[in-house]
Amino acid sequence: MGFPRIRPRRNRRRGAIRALVRETRLHPADLVLPLFVQEGKQKRTPIRSLPGQARLSIDLIVREARAAHRLGIRAVALFPVIPGKLKDPRATASTDPDGLLPRAIEAVKKAVPQIALITDVAMDPYSSDGHDGLVEKGRILNDPTLEILSQMALTQAASGADYVAPSDMMDGRVAAIRKALDENGFSETGILSYSAKVASAFYGPFREALDSAPKSGDKKSYQMDPANLREAVREARLDEREGADIVMVKPAGPYLDVIRAVREAVRVPVAAYQVSGEYGMLTAAAEKGWLDLNDGIRETLTGIKRAGADILFTYFAKEAARQLQKGGWD
Ligand code: PBG
Repeated sequence: MGFPRIRPRRNRRRGAIRALVRETRLHPADLVLPLFVQEGKQKRTPIRSLPGQARLSIDLIVREARAAHRLGIRAVALFPVIPGKLKDPRATASTDPDGLLPRAIEAVKKAVPQIALITDVAMDPYSSDGHDGLVEKGRILNDPTLEILSQMALTQAASGADYVAPSDMMDGRVAAIRKALDENGFSETGILSYSAKVASAFYGPFREALDSAPKSGDKKSYQMDPANLREAVREARLDEREGADIVMVKPAGPYLDVIRAVREAVRVPVAAYQVSGEYGMLTAAAEKGWLDLNDGIRETLTGIKRAGADILFTYFAKEAARQLQKGGWD
């Protein structure tokens, strides 16, 4: 009799069989495409450290949202590039109803109403200090920041954002934003909270894209220590209790265990953000010919979903959706 009798390889024999027994499937509707919006018309400014990604003027953002939707992507996340002269310590530009982001939200809503819009709530793109909170003598003032974040969220909700997404990591921001939204007639606007956001090396290219790096110090007094799993679960639970509709873990790849633990600890959907530096690692290695980019995208996104993420933020969203649409990953 043949030995061994039990042969797991039978389930890997060919493509049809592998597809049949596959445990984790990616779908374009899982994906969220982050986009960088800037002033201007027909203006596309490539981002050096994010090859293939660019800052786009609102007219081109609308085109990009339409292209994403055509590929089956159902949501985009918008990040504004604010000119240096509009930045100040209180991030005043973030509450201007005629500011860049509100105009972008309105334009996309009007042109591609089928797509869901997620907008970032944090001071850093608008702050002359480059921090996510109000800075006084080198310290971050938590509670006064909540006021600013709430006003920012209201501005975005009024323009038509489906989810406001606080990425600042101040204590109590979800409760404060929920209260402000409800008191102002925006009870239908959701909150996608960056609940377990780590003080990470992998945000480098993003900060270059928005010119939003901290002018002094670092973000370690509010973003999380990479070493902490229990604390990440605590943050996610707190946000769920404060009213978050979706919680997020960020970055994604180095934190798969955190994604799993958070998935098991909360009942709301869990998102994970494959951030700019993760995109950079893959594209740079592929450029050098050290790995196949397409396979790398598939493997990393599958890993993030397998770990427990329901929603995947990734700069590869269009590429991934294209592969899925043509059956390239079967
Ligand atoms: C802003 C924000 C950051 C990212 C998303 N929102 C940067 C930061 O906190 O410094 C990073 C996203 C990426 O690197 O792709 N608070």
